[in-house]
Amino acid sequence: MTEHPLAIIVLAAGQGTRMKSSLPKLLHPLAGMPVVSHVLATARELGAEHIVTVVRHERDRLVAVVEAELPESIIVDQDEIPGTGRAVEQAVAALPADFTGDVLVINGDVPLLDAATLASFIAAHRADGAAATVLSAMPEDPTGYGRIIRSANGEFDRIVEQKDATPDELAVGEVNAGVYLFGASALRDQLANLTTDNAQGEKYLTDVIQLLRAAGSEVSAVPVSEPWIVAGINDRAQLSEAALKLNALIVRGWQLAGVTVQDPATTWIDLKAKLAADVTLLPGTQILGSTVVATGSTIGPDTTLLDCEIGENVTVRRTDGTLAVVDAGATVGPFSFLRPGTHLCADGKIGAFVETKNATIGEGSKVPHLSYVGDAVIGVHSNIGAGTIFANYDGVNKHHSVVGSYVRTGSHNVFVAPITIGDGAYSGAGTVVRKSVPAGALAINVAPQRNMDGWVEANRPGTDAANAASESGD
Ligand code: UD1
Ligand code: CA
Repeated sequence: MTEHPLAIIVLAAGQGTRMKSSLPKLLHPLAGMPVVSHVLATARELGAEHIVTVVRHERDRLVAVVEAELPESIIVDQDEIPGTGRAVEQAVAALPADFTGDVLVINGDVPLLDAATLASFIAAHRADGAAATVLSAMPEDPTGYGRIIRSANGEFDRIVEQKDATPDELAVGEVNAGVYLFGASALRDQLANLTTDNAQGEKYLTDVIQLLRAAGSEVSAVPVSEPWIVAGINDRAQLSEAALKLNALIVRGWQLAGVTVQDPATTWIDLKAKLAADVTLLPGTQILGSTVVATGSTIGPDTTLLDCEIGENVTVRRTDGTLAVVDAGATVGPFSFLRPGTHLCADGKIGAFVETKNATIGEGSKVPHLSYVGDAVIGVHSNIGAGTIFANYDGVNKHHSVVGSYVRTGSHNVFVAPITIGDGAYSGAGTVVRKSVPAGALAINVAPQRNMDGWVEANRPGTDAANAASESGD
């Protein structure tokens, strides 16, 4: 036990009606993670003795995320009595009865709040010695937030919810950020006194403040340095504003770490992505999920990579990739579609209008133009002709193909899987390869060409084509 044991309560039981979504509000993605995961990750950083997460709406989906992100959290199911006050009441009941430390309450829908801000908030509370401390903010638009009402001498008096506020109170610009620190005993005492006597018929946690003051305890409000830190996500407009702000911070962070980002406004980087120094991101690029890009690589313009692994000195232009691995020195794009299981080995090439799926393309091998490679392994230094289709699907099952090394296949081939093409083999243009090709063989199955002399002049007399043919004198 430290001198000041800390318990954290994360409020995540609300319905999030203003989101108007079948996906629970707290599970909407923000920089590649559910909104609530940002809050859980912050809670973890503070090294609390106990963490309690309160759930109710869509509880199983929430619990799955909590268990993945913060397995040490105690889960508390809120009952049918609504409100943040009830949520905290039940969470406190889940703490050991003899817990007398500090209780930090944070809202699950305030995702940009960082551990450093919370640490200094906790320090301010401890220095001040108040029974409770509230984090406040002065947002550009206070609509929707609870207002901090101060008495004539500027002392913190109470919090009034938007829906309960008079016009005068609505004009107040200082709002409740939804972050509170309470001494456990004082909190326990006052939670028992909450009622649902308000516009929303809920037990408001914010009423604890007024009750504490009425009981003669001191409460203080500490303003946050910048209001965006405590922005709450209630609707989709606020979600996109928070996403924009967080993205700007992430982009700047990578720029300072040595990544060239030509156009921060059109570049999106998820929180879990990792970029090495001397990576260049061109405009319109999204680096999503757990994508990793190694040094010297240039991504974009107009490229989306989700959970991809990009090696050193790779070029990826105008490409959409998911769960693909691209090794050092390879080039991709423009207009390539890398689907899951694509592995382009070192110095390989996937070119324009090429789609790949579950395909390994060996070192130095190229699929340069207009092709589909699915369920295949290609050896090293092979070249797949323009317009080639790996026909992997027979209408019921998927089949696998193997192409050897140093292979040269002609343009406009179809490889009807399952087939194997041996090392050093060739195929003619337009071949439909239905049988495996031995090493070093030329596969060719097109019918011999027949030219019917004079056909156009006989059958299309008087057309430009016929006239051109007769004038050519051949
Ligand atoms: C709350 C505050 C408001 C503050 C704002 C800051 C109250 C009464 N009001 O309002 O003063 O300005 O946050 O963002 O606390 N929740 C539960 N159980 C419930 C209801 C909500 O766990 O019964 C959770 C929600 O999932 C959410 C958080 O509590 O994570 C806040 O709830 P929300 O309904 O968004 O409160 P606000 O109206 O934003
Ligand atoms: Ca809220």
